[in-house]
Amino acid sequence: MKSILSLRNQKLLKPFSVNRLSQFHSFTKNSFPNTVYNSATNSNSSTLTQSSVDTQLDVETKINTFSKYIINTYSRPDIIISKGEGCFLSDSSGGKYLDFTSGIAVLALGHSDPGVAKVISEQAKKITHISNLFYSEESGDLAKLLVENTIQAYPQGNVGLYASENGKPSPRVFFTNSGTEANEGALKFARKYGKIIAKEGKLRLSKADMLVSDPNLKSNIHCFTGGFHGRSMGALSVTPNPKYQNPYTPLIPGVTCSLYNNINELNTFVDERTCGVIVEPIQGEGGVNIGNIEFLKALRKRCTEVGAVLIYDEIQCGLARTGKIWAHHHYPPECSPDIITCAKPLGNGFPIGAIIASEQVSQKISVGDHGTTFGGNPLGCAIGKHVFSRISQPEFLDSVTDKGVYLKETLQKLAEPYLGNQIVEVRGKGMIYGIQFANAPSNIVELARNNGLLLVEAGKNTIRIIPPLVITKKEIDLGIDILKDVLKTVFQK
Ligand SMILES: Cc1ncc(COP(=O)(O)O)c(C=O)c1O
Repeated sequence: MKSILSLRNQKLLKPFSVNRLSQFHSFTKNSFPNTVYNSATNSNSSTLTQSSVDTQLDVETKINTFSKYIINTYSRPDIIISKGEGCFLSDSSGGKYLDFTSGIAVLALGHSDPGVAKVISEQAKKITHISNLFYSEESGDLAKLLVENTIQAYPQGNVGLYASENGKPSPRVFFTNSGTEANEGALKFARKYGKIIAKEGKLRLSKADMLVSDPNLKSNIHCFTGGFHGRSMGALSVTPNPKYQNPYTPLIPGVTCSLYNNINELNTFVDERTCGVIVEPIQGEGGVNIGNIEFLKALRKRCTEVGAVLIYDEIQCGLARTGKIWAHHHYPPECSPDIITCAKPLGNGFPIGAIIASEQVSQKISVGDHGTTFGGNPLGCAIGKHVFSRISQPEFLDSVTDKGVYLKETLQKLAEPYLGNQIVEVRGKGMIYGIQFANAPSNIVELARNNGLLLVEAGKNTIRIIPPLVITKKEIDLGIDILKDVLKTVFQK
């Protein structure tokens, strides 16, 4: 373990930010400027001030003990995060941080949201779990809410999920406990769908006859470079990153992969043997890469031609992150998916995910085809209903768009002096941005953290900016000020 002392000593040349952060926090706790949502999402009484704090030795001792019991899959800094409120976190030794990671795009409503806390407390006293052997009000209500809002928010949609067979599009929902599980289920649904349509001989293309005689041949799944879909065997098999995949080969068979945003390649690889294609309309972990409209149009067209299920993994970019309920709502209807997978912000920190599948796909799934013990439990669904009701409000989405424009402009200004040299580009949409550097930015992340700003890396040499969606412009300014001084220090400008 690195010495905490050495990390703590590594403040900026100008030791401003920790002071500035605590002043800011005590200022904001009584006067959040962003009226509608902050009055609903931030309590007046700050809980960030702790009564007892760990000494550096305490922290070191605790971390040494924890590391003896926790499997070593993450490289963590030498701090113990103990509390959160709104966009701020505090550690056990009294350090405060502005959180530009939101638990990897999870805390849309910020930390310790009072509304979410109330739902958790009330639902825990009512019912938390019954299993999928029974219906519950909570899962039924959340499924209805997800489906109806998705359809209403995109009236121009008329293909895939939005196609109406009997006058009204009727997608259906399967609840999961995580994003990975949502993708895993979606891949299974695509396999089942492929098998059935191959058997029915419904494909128009040349190899259709061959597939009817052996429907297992229509089982390929296509994915794209830079995509991240999870770490279980199926989801990992469509996450083409050697660092994640190599320790676990052989992966599941029948996976093809082509370059993200390359139309020629997708038309070569996606063929009659493909049952499903999985893609993020905006890649998160891969470095915040935006799918081109023409690419997603071509993908939709190709999937329809060959009878493959188009799965949009909106686990990171969906659920209001870009200022619309779904990232694909920024695209024309010709880009619509057959399945959406989502998770992260749906529970604002409580684990819940969902697969939203078109009528065409969900009709092909029968009793016993898929299952889960915890997925869709009343506690998760009550929280999901509360969170989704708030983040899907037009005022909320407009505030994300407005602050997103501000954040983008501010980041571009920040990057300007370094563009073409230390910084390659700033890209993103709404409240998800990537600053791509010429070299690995881990020293920037570390120095920012030591000065009260939490950041997360992504893709190649990229820092991801994914703050809670309730962040205010003042809080954005605070974070950018810290980052500005960090860049000055690191690049000596
Ligand atoms: C786009 C995307 N898909 C899937 C996942 C996996 O979700 P989870 O970690 O909830 O299993 C992630 C997680 O970062 C993600 O960003």
